[in-house]
Amino acid sequence: MSNYHIKGLKEYFQVYGMAVDDPEQFWEEIAEENFVWRKYWDSVLDWDFEKPEVKWFDGAQLNITENCIDRHLNHHGDKTAFIFEPNDPSEAAEHISYKDLHKRVCKFANVLKSKGIKRGDRVCIYLPMIPELAVSMLACARIGAIHSVVFAGFSSVALSTRINDASCKMVITSDGSYRGTKKVDLKVIVDDALNNSPSVEDVLVVKRTGCEVVLKEGRDEWLAPLLENSSIECIAETLEAEDPLFILYTSGSTGKPKGMLHTTAGYMVNVAYTFKNVFQYKGDDVFWCSADIGWITGHSYTVYGPLINGATSIIYEGVPNFPDWGRFWALIDKHQVSQLYTAPTAIRALAKENLSYVEKYKLTSLKVLGTVGEPINEEAWHWYNNNVGKKDCPIADTWWQTETGGIMISPIPFSTPTIPTFATLPLPGIQACLMDEQGKEIKGNRVEGRLCIKFPWPSIARTIWGDHKRYKDTYFSTFENKYFTGDRALRDATGYYRITGRVDDVIIVSGHNLGTAPIEDAINEHPAVAESAIVGFPHDIKGNALYGYVTLKDSGLSIDNDHLRKEINLIITEKIGPIAKLDKIQFTSALPQTRSGKIMRRILRRIASGDVDNIGDISTLINPETVKDVMDNVLL
Ligand code: PRX
Repeated sequence: MSNYHIKGLKEYFQVYGMAVDDPEQFWEEIAEENFVWRKYWDSVLDWDFEKPEVKWFDGAQLNITENCIDRHLNHHGDKTAFIFEPNDPSEAAEHISYKDLHKRVCKFANVLKSKGIKRGDRVCIYLPMIPELAVSMLACARIGAIHSVVFAGFSSVALSTRINDASCKMVITSDGSYRGTKKVDLKVIVDDALNNSPSVEDVLVVKRTGCEVVLKEGRDEWLAPLLENSSIECIAETLEAEDPLFILYTSGSTGKPKGMLHTTAGYMVNVAYTFKNVFQYKGDDVFWCSADIGWITGHSYTVYGPLINGATSIIYEGVPNFPDWGRFWALIDKHQVSQLYTAPTAIRALAKENLSYVEKYKLTSLKVLGTVGEPINEEAWHWYNNNVGKKDCPIADTWWQTETGGIMISPIPFSTPTIPTFATLPLPGIQACLMDEQGKEIKGNRVEGRLCIKFPWPSIARTIWGDHKRYKDTYFSTFENKYFTGDRALRDATGYYRITGRVDDVIIVSGHNLGTAPIEDAINEHPAVAESAIVGFPHDIKGNALYGYVTLKDSGLSIDNDHLRKEINLIITEKIGPIAKLDKIQFTSALPQTRSGKIMRRILRRIASGDVDNIGDISTLINPETVKDVMDNVLL
């Protein structure tokens, strides 16, 4: 039996059990049967919890782009690898075949080489959702350079921090980007960032919006002329299984973002397997993941997962409401999309609009729906199921993380019966468990606890770039022998998992992970601010929105100071990006603190959510009188 493609619940349980009994054999069979290796591995898994160190398929040699592109050329060279749907629907969509992709990646890789980029060098990619984003990632992978994609909505300060953290030698960007009716001048943001990023020697600029840009001599160049003069042949570098593939930053509970490092072979095997099973991709299906490639979802399920499986994957440049709120549905009919993978926040935003936007379209090509990034509420689940899937498309509520590289807990469509809001069962090869606060595993069903994973799986991030101690502290120090996810979950009577939220200081806003610490750091830089605390509160569309409590140095400043509120949001936009802006800002005279000086966020969270009857014990506070003051002035 090939365990690569599961059909039916019985088979799922069989394969799952087999993977628990012998995880190495399970992954080895998948690896042997479905990929191109230049040399097989010496060992399947080496794992040392103490360090911690994980190696999958050690000794093997390969190139992931050969698996993504070259091996499809003989039989499927003319098949479309990517469909590029531009922001403006009157601009023609572009179909890029596997053959075309091969040429484009080779040419790009040769440009990188001509600029002196070598195996192990870090290349920062700051691009909108255009084909060059995927092509440049693959070009890096072709020559063994490590790509670090930074979401093009981040500010120049955030970009510079990420460039510096990885000492990137090159930045690949564009003149600008389109987002609905808006244009953003990306190159200006890069220029700003590079004032503080001395490691960057070269900047390659893709022309997209035609806006004016300044090219700094000796550093910046347009990409197009370089590509024109570059060869369409570039032999893929032979890489080791554990050679780094990419760095991708995610928020943590301190100010500094965590550069999660993913390596080659394990990531490849894991994302290929999960793509195939979770989306039940077949034949000529057209797959669309609406996430930006700047996030892990786009890395794994717009680029790598689909290409390894020889699929057709859509890259959509725009937003859901341009030219109107029917754009997603128009796109699905236009390209006959079979699988749609999107986020609960997008579903909620789409559901808020008039149903006629959806009803205008047939959507009959859809077979499977997916969601990711945050818990999906029941109402959004039903809306998606009724109006998009027409009650005929299973919904895969997929739970995973930047750190896990690939989907971990999810129904397998047509096999696992779904229940709204439940990510259901761990995929084969993934041993999920729940832990209590004393560090004991909670066995049985109908229980709730902290979500951990027992055994290393192939696509686990190997380290935090430049900070292995933080990697150990964050993920492997809370519970012995287990990877701690930072999430809380419950397991129902049937063993299904439902993820109920984060247990740390990360808040998920519109599906984006935001650490409270960097936002507070940004606010505290405002000269009028003495102290601040950020908490999340429930929001109809974003899932959570941000509520800021801000204590001013001069308490005489009016508590209704809207000008100051604007300035605070401006500083957040500058330091992090518009995604981290606060929805509400309450000025406080002081914040409730414990004796050790820690701000009691639990109380602030309850107050911001209007849950004032459940404030709980405030006897441990050094200043309990602040609670009443905060409650009296709450903005609900
Ligand atoms: O809290 C979980 C939530 O998103 C976190 C991971 O965020 P990030 O690294 O940005 O990756 C998002 C895309 C994979 C998780 O720790 N999360 C993700 N998927 C779900 C979810 N929460 C509930 N249900 C999900 N399906």
